[in-house]
Amino acid sequence: MTRVPLVAGNWKMNKTLGEAVRLVEVLMPQLDSLERVESLVCPPFTALAPVAEALRGSRLKLGAQNLYWLEAGAYTGEISAPMLKDLCEYVIVGHSERRQYFGETDETVNLRLRAALGHQLKPILCIGETLAEREAGQTLQLVGQQLRQALTEVPARELHALVIAYEPVWAIGTGRAASPADALEVIDGAIRATFSELYGSEAAGRVRVLYGGSVGPKNARSFFELETIDGALVGGASLRAEDFVQIAEAAAP
Ligand code: PGA
Repeated sequence: MTRVPLVAGNWKMNKTLGEAVRLVEVLMPQLDSLERVESLVCPPFTALAPVAEALRGSRLKLGAQNLYWLEAGAYTGEISAPMLKDLCEYVIVGHSERRQYFGETDETVNLRLRAALGHQLKPILCIGETLAEREAGQTLQLVGQQLRQALTEVPARELHALVIAYEPVWAIGTGRAASPADALEVIDGAIRATFSELYGSEAAGRVRVLYGGSVGPKNARSFFELETIDGALVGGASLRAEDFVQIAEAAAP
C-alpha cells in the first residue's frame, strides 16, 4: 500500500498578509522540486486568498485551520465549507488548541469533519491525549474513542479524502516530541486498529496518518522512518522556511 507522504504546516495565529505571501514565495521553488511529497500550508483565514493567488501553478497546497459546519447564515465570525472550497483543498479539524481554548467537543469535531467531507474538502483530523490522560494510562482507549466519535456517521465512500494527525497535547509547542516508539504504539494500536474495526483492514491501510507535536528538522526523519507514519503536522517549525523545507525533504521516500 503506497501512501503519499504529506507535510503540513499549521501557521496558527501567525503571519500578516505580507509575511504570509513572502513565506510561500520562499517555500514554493524549494518544495515544488520535491516530487514524491505533498506539502501543504495552512495560514490564517485572512491570508488564504492572497496565498492562493501566490500559489497558482505551484504544487504546494493550501489548507484552512478550521471551519463551521453550517453552510451560510447568521453566524457572526464563522467561515463555512463552501467559502473555503473556493480557496483551498484541505482543512484542519479538531486541533487540540480549538478543543482547549474554544470549546470544541468530539461532537462539534464530528460536525465539522462531515461538513468538510460533504463539500469535498480534505480534513486533517487531529486527535491526541493530554499529559494527565497519558499518565493515567488512558492513551490508547482515549485516542480510539476520539477517532470513533469524530467518524460517527461518516460513510466509507468519503474516507479517501481523510487525513488523521496524531498530536499528543503535551508535545505541542513544548519542544518535547513524543518518541517515535510512542507515536507508533498509538498510531497502530489505537488509530489504525480503530479504523480497521470501523471500516476494515484495507481502509485502515489506506488512510494517511501524520504525527504532530514539536516536529523539527532534527527529529522529523526519526518519525518518517516508520512505515505507519505518513508525514507530519508542523506548527512552530512551519513558520521558518528553511526548517519546513528540511522537514519536507526528510519525508521524501
Ligand atoms: P508544534 O505544533 O509543531 O509547534 O508543536 C504542532 C501543531 O499544533 O499542529
